[in-house]
Amino acid sequence: MTLTTTVHSYAGGVAKSATARDLSAALALLGHRVLLIDADHQADLSVSLGVDIDEEFANADDSFGNTIGPAVLGTGVLPEARRVFGLDLIPSSVTLYNLEKELKADVSMVVGLRYALDEVRAAGKYDFIFIDTNPTLGDMATLALLAADRVLLPIPPNRKGMRAGSFIKSRVEKGHYQRLNPGLSVLPPVITQTPNTTLARQYMAEIESVFGTTLGVIKQRPGLYPSAMERATPVPHLDQGEGKAEVMALAEAFLKVTGERHGS
Ligand SMILES: Nc1ncnc2c1ncn2[C@@H]1O[C@H](COP(=O)(O)OP(=O)(O)OP(=O)(O)O)[C@@H](O)[C@H]1O
Ligand SMILES: [Mg+2]
Repeated sequence: MTLTTTVHSYAGGVAKSATARDLSAALALLGHRVLLIDADHQADLSVSLGVDIDEEFANADDSFGNTIGPAVLGTGVLPEARRVFGLDLIPSSVTLYNLEKELKADVSMVVGLRYALDEVRAAGKYDFIFIDTNPTLGDMATLALLAADRVLLPIPPNRKGMRAGSFIKSRVEKGHYQRLNPGLSVLPPVITQTPNTTLARQYMAEIESVFGTTLGVIKQRPGLYPSAMERATPVPHLDQGEGKAEVMALAEAFLKVTGERHGS
């Protein structure tokens, strides 16, 4: 059985890509088979894993051809994944921005990623698939949420993070995606970029009261995270200390919560 999780928030910069990258890398280190999909035209996730297909290919069509784009449009299949840090990555490119236009023109394409992933899931090659989204509530988020079993919300302990996380939780729970994806449910969130302040502790308590529980806390580490990004290395590979321990604990919490679904 493959569990597909979309890492999502309409809020920008809340650590969606860092969470998708580091949680996937941690699960791969624990021996799980992971496919990571970059569905954000910013391609931060891909670049932060050392894969920049806009640099690699001179031609925009070739870049687009190496993303989920053709499979979503039905003009091609998913590209061969890149092997990085023990996991498989389908990268993104700025050309993926074109999908938004296509999704507007033909609304039926919004299930394109779900159909493409149904084939991957049926092949049974992965325990976990993660999809990283751009900060939107628009069609690209819908595309990624219709393809998933679970949504994982990274929520920094501040007003912006809290508002976005609560809104998406209630949107999913009110059945917004119900007709096309009745199985979608919200995982306990991960509290990200957490400073050691009284205000942050107040928001952490509020997040816990809204969600009942969380997958844990990732501290604000202004040295480690930007350098993980710049050095294109996931935190569990870059750091062997507390940063790694936090991410590995997140992976263990994720496994515990999703336990009944994982493993074949
Ligand atoms: N725990 C942390 N401590 C310090 N910096 C962090 C932490 N987590 C993430 N960051 C940094 O915060 C910035 C935003 O993170 P990231 O790109 O993962 O967010 P995002 O939600 O994916 O953003 P976007 O909405 O643009 O897709 C990055 O520079 C990242 O390195
Ligand atoms: Mg991102």
